[in-house]
Amino acid sequence: MDSLSLMTETEPIKSAVKRAYSSLATDRVSALEKNCCETSGSNTGKLLHYGYSKEELGELPESVTVMADGCGNPTALGMIKEGETVLDLGSGGGIDVFLASKRVGRTGRVIGLDMTVEMVDRAKDNARRMGLSNVEFKLGEIEQMPMSDGSVDVIMSNCVICLSPDKENVFAEMFRVLKPGGRLAIADEVAMKPFTEKEKRDPKQWCSCITGAITEKEYSSHLEHAGFTNIYVKRLRPSTESSPNVFSAFVSAVRPARP
Ligand SMILES: C[S@@+](CC[C@H](N)C(=O)[O-])C[C@H]1O[C@@H](n2cnc3c(N)ncnc32)[C@H](O)[C@@H]1O
Repeated sequence: MDSLSLMTETEPIKSAVKRAYSSLATDRVSALEKNCCETSGSNTGKLLHYGYSKEELGELPESVTVMADGCGNPTALGMIKEGETVLDLGSGGGIDVFLASKRVGRTGRVIGLDMTVEMVDRAKDNARRMGLSNVEFKLGEIEQMPMSDGSVDVIMSNCVICLSPDKENVFAEMFRVLKPGGRLAIADEVAMKPFTEKEKRDPKQWCSCITGAITEKEYSSHLEHAGFTNIYVKRLRPSTESSPNVFSAFVSAVRPARP
């Protein structure tokens, strides 16, 4: 991500993340407007590798696929059913919201939540173009979700929790907004070893979904502490040269039906 090189070491993490994804949204839109098939084509290849099917991608306009920047396909793994209310944390350009909207059907609802204005604007634009009436995009932070208690059946997220500097609040908020019996379906980067404080202070590495990642053990204990059960962390892909010391994983858990 070229735009990340503009960041300074002293910038607080959250504003650095916001700035990085604001630039990413702007850069990808302008690449698309310039008809730059290279950006779009290479993103489609990446999405196939990350678990999206050709059929799923074929249903989506280029303005959606070009914006995708996750590390898995949570809608495919989340067993989303017709009529359910689904919340996507850090929804970006909306790819997973749009795929989930088909799964929940006309009786269900999908809400995308993201703190970056440019991302929410792109996602709203895409929803309008696609004529979808069962989706909604909200501007807000996943550490303080603008959602009522017990209002959601499934929370999904794609490569976002690793970007939060306040994960404890994110897990507590997930538990609060899920209905009893509600489930988590998360694709995220997981650390192979805890990162040092110095490594965590590098905004470029943090915003690239590397040094903000926590280990599998930390993930499970955060979820358990928040009250979740049936916690599974399943490895999807090993680390790569561009994402060292992290692996992509699918994380699932359940808010118990009874306290
Ligand atoms: C790596 S992108 C993934 C976007 C989308 N999930 C996808 O798969 O294309 C991360 C997104 O999370 C959002 N984000 C990061 N931290 C956030 C936070 N604390 N609260 C809300 N949104 C956040 C960013 O604005 C960005 O759109």
